[in-house]
Amino acid sequence: MKKLLSVLAAILFTISACTTGDMQESSSAEPEIKKWAIALHGGAGYVSPDMPEDRKEAYYAALEEALSIGQGVLEDGGTALDAVEQTINYLEDNELFNAGKGAVFTSEGKNELDAAIMDGSTLNAGAITGVTTVRNPISLARKVMTDSRHVFFSSQGAEQFADQTDVERVDPSYFYTERRFQSLKEAQAAEQTGYLFETDKMKEWKYGTVGTVALDINGNLAAGTSTGGMTNKKFGRVGDVPIIGSGTYANDLVAVSGTGWGEKIMLNVSAHTLASYMEYTGASLQESMDYLTDQVLEPGDAGFIAVDKYGNISMKTNTGSMFRAAIDSEGNKDVAIWDE
Ligand code: GLY
Repeated sequence: MKKLLSVLAAILFTISACTTGDMQESSSAEPEIKKWAIALHGGAGYVSPDMPEDRKEAYYAALEEALSIGQGVLEDGGTALDAVEQTINYLEDNELFNAGKGAVFTSEGKNELDAAIMDGSTLNAGAITGVTTVRNPISLARKVMTDSRHVFFSSQGAEQFADQTDVERVDPSYFYTERRFQSLKEAQAAEQTGYLFETDKMKEWKYGTVGTVALDINGNLAAGTSTGGMTNKKFGRVGDVPIIGSGTYANDLVAVSGTGWGEKIMLNVSAHTLASYMEYTGASLQESMDYLTDQVLEPGDAGFIAVDKYGNISMKTNTGSMFRAAIDSEGNKDVAIWDE
C-alpha cells in the first residue's frame, strides 16, 4: 500500500510539474556545474556520538584521507572510475570499515566479500560476491567489467576469474580482526536467545560497507561499493552491494552507492529507484534522495551517497549516522558522521 502511494505520488508530481511548468524549471534552469565532484561513505547504521574521542578522530582522519585520494585523482584529470576504485581501495585496506581488511564474519567464521562498480557513461558494470582471497574486491569487480564478457561472478567462479588477473591475493586469515570476531561471537550468542530485543550493538551487525561516487572533468559518472556484508550472515548470503541497481548504480544522470541493511536496500532496488525517480519525474538530486530515504525505505534501513551530472552531491541516511565525506571542484567540502 505504501509503495502504491509512493508511485502515485511520483506520478502526480510528474503530472503537476508538467502542467505547472515546474518540471521545465527544474530541468532547464541553468544549474551551477562543477568540474568534478566526489562523495564517499564508510557505512551507515547507528554509532553513538559518545564513542571514545580517539576512535572518533581515527574515523575522521580516515574519511579525510580517503577523500583526498579521490580528490587528487579528479584534480589531476583522472577518471571517475579511477577515483572510485582508488578511494575504495584505501577504505578496504583500513580495518575501521566493513570492507576488505575490516570485513565482518559469516556465521561459519569466514570473511566473504562483495563489491560492484558501474561506469555511468557506458552503463557497463562488474560485480563479485563471496570472495575470500582478494585483498581489494572493488579492483576485481572492475576487472570483471573491463576484462570479461560477464557482469557478475560468485564465490569459486569469482576466485577462478581472479586467478586470471593481477589483482592482489591474500590468505583468508588476512581478514581476521579481533573486533569483528568478537562481534560474531556476540551475534551468535544473541541468536541463541532469539534476539529478544535489539540493542544498538545488534543494529551495527546489520550495517557497514564502503562506497564512492564521482563525476570527472569529462562529465563521466561512476559508482562503486564494497563490503563484508552483515555479521553472522548465513551460507551463501548475498547482499545489496553487488546487485547492480540495488546498492550500486550509475548512468549519465546520476551515480549512487548505498549502505545499510542489505535486504531492505535490495527489496527496494534502491540505487536504481533514486536514478529512475530523478529521470522520470525531473526531480532534483536532493528531492530524489529524500524520496528514497523518506518514502520508499523505512527509518533505520539505509543511507546513500549520490552525485549528479552537474556535480551536485547528496548524502543522507535514515539510520542515525553515516560515515561520509564529499568535496567538489568549487571547494565545497563536508566530512561528517552524525547530523553536524
Ligand atoms: N549493505 C551491505 C550488506 O547488507 O551486505
